[in-house]
Amino acid sequence: MPTDRIRLASLRDKIVSAEEAASLIRDGMIVGMSGFTRAGEAKAVPMALAARAKTEPLKITLITGASLGNDLDKQLAEAHVLSRRIPFQSDPGLRKAINDGEVMFVDQHLSETVEHLRTHQLGPIDVAVIEAVAITANGGIIPTTSVGNSATFAILADKVIVEINATQPMALEGLHDIYIPTRRPFREPIPVVAPESRVGLPFIPIPPEKIAAIVLTQKLDSASTVLPPDHETAAIASHLMEFLGHEVKKGRLTERLQPLQAGIGTIANAVMHGFLESPFHDLTMYSEVLQDSTFDLFDAGKLNFASGSSITLSKSKYDEVIPKIAEYKSRLILRPQEISNHPEIIRRLGIIGINTALEFDIYGNVNSTHVGGTQMMNGIGGSGDFARNAYLAVFVTKSIAKGGALSSVVPFVSHVDHTEHDVDILVTEVGLADLRELAPRERAKVVIANCVHPTFRDEMQDYFDRACARGGHTPHLIEEALSWHVRARETGTMHASPERKIA
Ligand code: COA
Repeated sequence: MPTDRIRLASLRDKIVSAEEAASLIRDGMIVGMSGFTRAGEAKAVPMALAARAKTEPLKITLITGASLGNDLDKQLAEAHVLSRRIPFQSDPGLRKAINDGEVMFVDQHLSETVEHLRTHQLGPIDVAVIEAVAITANGGIIPTTSVGNSATFAILADKVIVEINATQPMALEGLHDIYIPTRRPFREPIPVVAPESRVGLPFIPIPPEKIAAIVLTQKLDSASTVLPPDHETAAIASHLMEFLGHEVKKGRLTERLQPLQAGIGTIANAVMHGFLESPFHDLTMYSEVLQDSTFDLFDAGKLNFASGSSITLSKSKYDEVIPKIAEYKSRLILRPQEISNHPEIIRRLGIIGINTALEFDIYGNVNSTHVGGTQMMNGIGGSGDFARNAYLAVFVTKSIAKGGALSSVVPFVSHVDHTEHDVDILVTEVGLADLRELAPRERAKVVIANCVHPTFRDEMQDYFDRACARGGHTPHLIEEALSWHVRARETGTMHASPERKIA
């Protein structure tokens, strides 16, 4: 392991084992760890914490950028280390502990966590654990494949543990742009005026004496779990491309479009692949997670620049991209998530934000987080940061789930993450509903005609007709509005006649 990655020689005697470093974390502490959508998370120290919790009582509040890889959330949840978890996760084991009420999960807009820390509404952070490719000669931390909330964790924490990961290439140095907004209420404008704006430092600046321990590691990031595009996701992408083409014809956009943001997961990644076969060119991304599709678009010559907070790739894409990251570096920036997701910048750049819904309703309210209204899936992530402030807020989903038993378009969502006021465009494989400037009754008509799966359309039309007969600006049969969810819970399907359930 090359200690020359610790360029400030006086810090080299801080190298300790993961267990020794983890001993700085004690019961009841608030810990900030690097990691954003399974990229660049601290790996050895959380594993040592999970092991230690088997022999001694240990409960912490864990704050990260977003989800962790290497099954860390699972290991920590199974070892019962987590009393609180903020602001996002995507692990089935932790999800269960959250839904069982064991872990108190605070599902938070990803741009907001560090603002709460800075203003002491949350915290203070006792220990920060940050994965790095190297420490600079003045003690600055060079992050790896994500920035997330790492900079503010390190700046605010009493003590910092740095995990130097030798498997992360030194070529990552220079990719990061660490800018911390000035204090409110006198904050100056954030000087990002284009996806390619570089406004900060290539490392996290902290006084070297705060670095209490350094752990040397060699564990890779986990591969992303996204599935390849399928028939339905290709249809969703094609509807969106057609719509954007129409916007170009109308003169509202050019073929370069405006900076694109795409959410996490299989569907958003597949939709981004749709740009490969589109007439659009010289595209840019101002997003948070950069997935496989970003690099496919670079390689196809479609994408000029991408700004994000993390790089999360499938195994084959990781093996292809990370060793030659130097070739992409002039077209990439990784930023703190409060900057990648900052409302001021999203509004300024006029972003086209494409995020995924679990379900949406006929009036355009979107549920991205709660299955059946109560069971947490992953969290709102950055979807709210983008949707409310985007030039176009697009939400995509397949029209049915669980083999056709559930409709992803419902009379009324069972939980609201994005209200009808924040949503412009809805897309399923059936078609696209453009809700801009439409009143609720008009919205419902286009959603039912364009987005609802044919096996649910008559039932939805019937609900809407009866609701309209009763009246109202946003017509509902309040006593029936959640009846599709009630039926799903009781019978396993939202269909009124179970024989209509499709295979
Ligand atoms: N009701 C119940 N479950 C549903 C559903 C519905 N209407 N629609 C989808 N699901 C289930 C799927 O069956 C699948 O379940 P499984 O994991 O047991 O197979 C799961 O949700 C994921 O669906 P999938 O079709 O694979 O989509 P995805 O990988 O694109 O994920 C979200 C979709 C909504 C879960 C994901 O995008 C998310 O967590 N979004 C919120 C956060 C976000 O938008 N962040 C963006 C910036 S970070």
